Amino acid sequence: MSDFTVEAIRYQTPNPSTLERDRVVIAVVDGQIAAVAPADGDAAADLRARSRNHLDLGSETVLVPGLIDLHVHAPQWQQLGTALDLPVQDWLQTYTFPLEARFADTAMAGVVYRDLVTTLLAHGTTTAVYFASVHEAATLVLAETCAEAGQRAFVGRVAMDHPDATPEWYRDADAASGLTASARSIEAIRAADADRGLVMPIITPRFLPACTDELLIGLGTLAEDTGVRIQTHCSESDWHHTHALERFGTTDTSALDDFGLLRDHTVLAHGNHVTDADISLIAARGAVIGHCPVSNAYFANAVLPLPELLTAGVRVGLGTDIGAGVRPGVLQQCHEAVTMSRLRRDGVHAGLPSVARGAPDASIDTTTAFWLATAGGAEALGLPLGVLEPGRRFDAVAIDLDHRHGVIRRHAELDDDERLFEKVVRLAQTSDIRQVWVDGRTVHQR
Ligand code: GUN
Ligand code: FE
Repeated sequence: MSDFTVEAIRYQTPNPSTLERDRVVIAVVDGQIAAVAPADGDAAADLRARSRNHLDLGSETVLVPGLIDLHVHAPQWQQLGTALDLPVQDWLQTYTFPLEARFADTAMAGVVYRDLVTTLLAHGTTTAVYFASVHEAATLVLAETCAEAGQRAFVGRVAMDHPDATPEWYRDADAASGLTASARSIEAIRAADADRGLVMPIITPRFLPACTDELLIGLGTLAEDTGVRIQTHCSESDWHHTHALERFGTTDTSALDDFGLLRDHTVLAHGNHVTDADISLIAARGAVIGHCPVSNAYFANAVLPLPELLTAGVRVGLGTDIGAGVRPGVLQQCHEAVTMSRLRRDGVHAGLPSVARGAPDASIDTTTAFWLATAGGAEALGLPLGVLEPGRRFDAVAIDLDHRHGVIRRHAELDDDERLFEKVVRLAQTSDIRQVWVDGRTVHQR
C-alpha cells in the first residue's frame, strides 16, 4: 500500500541531452518513490488500487523533478533586484556587508527568512544551498525556518575574519572564534532537524579574500573531522581570481585545495575563471560548480566555460546567487544559462571579425539547462533527487500548461511536447506552478 499515487505527464532530463516525456503513475511511500508505471497499463491500475490517495493532475499539467538551487545568500533577499551597479568587491563593502550585518537582529531574520523560504518553495525550489550570515543565532533561525516550511536545505554560517577584505563591524573577531562559532553552528543545525534530516549544515568560508590562512586551515580540519560539506565562492571575477594569484602564487582552486577545502561535493559558486588545470583538479577532488548565469553577467567579467567543465567530468548545477542573481527561481536561471552560453558562443564585440568573436561549441539548450537544475544539481549534491524514478525522494513540481492566471499558453495545433517543455523552462512563473512537494509532503499549493 502506498501513501499516495500521482498520475501525470512527466517531463524529466535524466542526462544532459535527453528529454523524457510520458504519462505515468508514481507511487510514494514514506517520501520515497516506490514505483513508476506507464499510466495506461495494468501495473498502473495496480498502483492506483493499492494507494491510500490518488491524485490525477490531468492533461493540462506536467510534473517535473524539484528544482535545486546550489547558491543562495539568504540575508541578501531584501536586496534582490537592486544595487548591482558596482563591481563585486565594492558591492560587498557598500551594500551587502551592511545589509548582512543587520541579521544580528534575530527577530528580523525570522521574518525575512520565512518570506524567502516560502517564496522559493512557490518557485519550485525544493532544495537550496544557503549562505546565511556570520551570526550563529540567525543562521539557526534559517535552518529552523527551512525545517518548518519543509524545504530541503544545506545551511551555512558564513566564516570570514580577514581584516583587509571585511569591515570590523561584520566579521569573526579572529580565526579561533570563527572556528568555534562554525563548529557550534553545525551542531545546532543538526539538532534543529534531527527528526527528518532534511536540513543539513555546511561549512562556509565566504571566499579566500575574506578569510585568514588560520581560519581556512581550521575549517579544512573541521570538514575532515566532521565530514560536513563545504561551500565557498571560487574564481568569480577578475578581481577574485587575481587576489589568489597575488596572495598565494597560485589559482583560487589550487589554494582552496591546499587548505583542504576542495573535497567531494564542495560547492564552488561561479568558477568562471578556472584554468584547465583547475578543471582537472576540481574533477579529481569531486568538487562541484554552482553556475549562477545572471549574477555572472553583473560580476564575473566572463561567462563560465560550461561545456569544458562537463566534458572534463565536473559536476555542475545552477544557482540563483540571490541577491546578485536578480531573479528568485531556478527556471529563470535555466533560461539565462542558455542565453549566456549563446553570447559566449557568438562573442559580443561586433568590432571583431565573427570568427574571432566567440567560443565555438559553447552553447547549451533548454534540455541541458533543465538537467543542470534537476539531475545535475542532485548529482552535484550526491542526493537521490532530480529524476522521478524509483528509489529517489519525491521532490516534485506540478506546472500548469494553460492556466488563465499563468504565463504559459498551450496552442494545441502548434505545440508538440518539445515546444511545451521549452515553454515550461523559459516561461513558467509562480502563477503557473500549481503544487510543490518535498520528500512526499506538499509544501506549496496555489
Ligand atoms: N563573493 C564573496 N561574497 C559574495 C557574495 O555575497 N556574492 C557574490 N556574488 N560573490 C561573493
Ligand atoms: Fe554568492
